[in-house]
Amino acid sequence: MTEQKAILHLPGQEAIELPIIKGTAGNDVIDISSLGKAGYFTYDPGFLVTASCESAITYIDGDKGILLHRGYPIAQLAEKSDYLEVCYLLLNGRLPDKNEFDKFHSIVLHHTMIHEQLAKLYQGFRRDSHPMAIMVGVVGALSAFYHDSLDITNVKHREVAAYRLISKMPTLAAMSYKYSNGQPFVYPDNSLSYAGNFLKMMFAVPCEEYKVNPVLERAMDKIFILHADHEQNASTSTVRLAGSSGANPFACIAAGIASLWGPAHGGANEACLVMLEEIASVDRIPEFIARAKDKDDPFRLMGFGHRVYKNHDPRATVMRKTCHEVLNDLQINDPLLDVAMELERIALEDPYFIEKKLYPNVDFYSGIVLQAMGIPRSMFTVIFAIARTVGWVSHWKEMLDQPGQRIGRPRQLYTGAVDLQFDHVDDRCN
Ligand code: ACO
Repeated sequence: MTEQKAILHLPGQEAIELPIIKGTAGNDVIDISSLGKAGYFTYDPGFLVTASCESAITYIDGDKGILLHRGYPIAQLAEKSDYLEVCYLLLNGRLPDKNEFDKFHSIVLHHTMIHEQLAKLYQGFRRDSHPMAIMVGVVGALSAFYHDSLDITNVKHREVAAYRLISKMPTLAAMSYKYSNGQPFVYPDNSLSYAGNFLKMMFAVPCEEYKVNPVLERAMDKIFILHADHEQNASTSTVRLAGSSGANPFACIAAGIASLWGPAHGGANEACLVMLEEIASVDRIPEFIARAKDKDDPFRLMGFGHRVYKNHDPRATVMRKTCHEVLNDLQINDPLLDVAMELERIALEDPYFIEKKLYPNVDFYSGIVLQAMGIPRSMFTVIFAIARTVGWVSHWKEMLDQPGQRIGRPRQLYTGAVDLQFDHVDDRCN
């Protein structure tokens, strides 16, 4: 097949041929890397149409509402798999056989403890610190404790760092919660599942026996699966950019956590719950829908809309079902669920939301589920960070494995001053 080319006509120059590169699915891309020679950069604030890398990990078709990890639909993974198997899949590119899975499972579960000195680091934080603030600090600090996995040119080191990050994130996260409420840290219990262990480290206290509720364990596992990866989102791109300079993996993941913290990214489920509480009853929904549509009002329907999905977010469908399962099991009759379901129904029939293709995203129901499970709001984004760690690490590894990997360095359209002459401060009169 002949290679297709795009032809670009620039003022006063000969036409430039730009190769069109085909992927296995999704939009083809125009290779503009030769444009610099012509004296031009491309301009795409927010990277709306820029492919920053080549990747074989996750595919999203936002118009059709499709999300695939290594080719497998997210709904199948959420239904039939478990989080650690999805981790293996994302990291290695294929599903494990039984032996490989058992080995992986055992490795992850045997890296769950953290260096005892790292536990002391927590004492340096204020008790009222946001757990995400603590996570940015302690995950970055892992690089001060695990020197034997910092050589990013060594494949073995990269692998060990990946295991350590996936294994230790629930421990660090639960510790950040325990620290905030003054309870003793609970050590990991390697006889439990990844999700069950996290629940135990969150909720167990030394004076009582803790039994993991299997419905909540499965719900937690699904939440982890649904948040495991989402191709080149803000935090993953942050991890890639940080990693492109050769920074160590723990520092790169700390950068990803910082990026995830923002309300337009990982903080949306907390913001959504606050919004549902503010709406409080079904009869107030029209007022909030009107506000969301008002151009002069900054209010947005949290948990609605997505940069990539212009159709149903397939994760939201799984999350809605999980929400009902958890509330049923706990026999909770949460009026917020009624508000959420009615809000979803009204918005999906409203011309504004239809025209702008705004659908509920994964965060719309996840806040209700997490709250029902007893997870405090400040931990919502932390749980997202636990789950997304495998995605970040997989992208980081993929980037380093690619031949010719270079430091990421975007260019800019400069609009500032030029050619100013410096005056000494005594001679300046502004
Ligand atoms: N409520 C009301 N209007 C909205 C919403 C919303 N939730 N989302 C987008 N719009 C409108 C915008 O006002 C804009 O209208 P205009 O064209 O008339 O100016 C149009 O839809 C496009 O919106 P953008 O902000 O340009 O879309 P973008 O792709 O940049 O933003 C985002 C996506 C940030 C997710 C946005 O939809 C939003 O703020 N949603 C609420 C926050 C949220 O739920 N975030 C979670 C994302 S999922 C995740 O990170 C796991």
